[in-house]
Amino acid sequence: MATDVTDDTKGEDDVTDNTHPPTGGSARLNTSVAHNARVWNYWIGGKDNYEVDQQVGEHVATMFPVIREVARADRDFLGRAVTHLAAERGVRQFLDVGTGLPTVDNTHEIAQRVSPDSRIVYVDNDPIVLVHARTLLTSTPEGVTDYIDADVHDPAAIVERAAGTLDLGQPVAVMLLGILNFVLDTDKAREIVRELVAAVPSGSFLVLTHPTFDAEYGGEGNIPAMEFWNENAVPPITARSHAEIASFLDGLELVEPGLVSCSRWRPEDGSAAVVPQLGAVAVKP
Ligand SMILES: C[S@@+](CC[C@H](N)C(=O)[O-])C[C@H]1O[C@@H](n2cnc3c(N)ncnc32)[C@H](O)[C@@H]1O
Repeated sequence: MATDVTDDTKGEDDVTDNTHPPTGGSARLNTSVAHNARVWNYWIGGKDNYEVDQQVGEHVATMFPVIREVARADRDFLGRAVTHLAAERGVRQFLDVGTGLPTVDNTHEIAQRVSPDSRIVYVDNDPIVLVHARTLLTSTPEGVTDYIDADVHDPAAIVERAAGTLDLGQPVAVMLLGILNFVLDTDKAREIVRELVAAVPSGSFLVLTHPTFDAEYGGEGNIPAMEFWNENAVPPITARSHAEIASFLDGLELVEPGLVSCSRWRPEDGSAAVVPQLGAVAVKP
């Protein structure tokens, strides 16, 4: 574990600048059970994880060797999608739900590189993400980076708090990367997407990645690997079919090339291997 996590239990909920010390999240840290944010960090080569995360991460990688490639392809997709939206679509506001631990090229860094006045609100409910976000998610002086400690199952609370930082009368890119897979009920996941998209105006975007068990993407191995995960780690996860994932995009207009292996979404390298993690960008008409 590379970061010194202090035991501060003051319990503040969100921040709007970068001067706050880490609080709150550290009080909820559980280092005896593998947590998704930390294992994901392990798979992408980060150092912000514990022994239990490394053990579970290694076991999953043994069962399902493509998982590291999935995690890297997902991060690369995030980079291309945010660059596309900021540089080619003029998007200046991002609501990134299921942030993950800060890594190389986070959403605000990519967006603010294109346009320093970009406003980014991050949302996650993992205590260690909260601790790191407060120290690492800094902003340009012209822009804003905010962090909300909230659960994706409560989109109304997310919208209400995001409205304190984002102008919800102007287009927003709602980012749901690798997070709807933690909403086990598909109807509930659709409802969450609908509620988040309803809160932003026409011309806004939805950016999505999601694991699939479809064989054509090499996803069958997700099923036993996720069974192991659900017995040994938190939070519980599910994969879905292409059709189920496509249903999250109903009513929106897909940006080319549509819902595809996230490695094949406008790739810099046209020969990138297919991975069992689908990605899409869609616009609200
Ligand atoms: C697979 S990681 C993806 C991180 C990042 N979006 C990416 O694509 O690299 C999923 C993130 O979702 C967060 N998460 C899981 N369940 C959540 C929930 N119910 N509410 C908010 N965040 C959640 C985890 O803590 C983790 O940071």
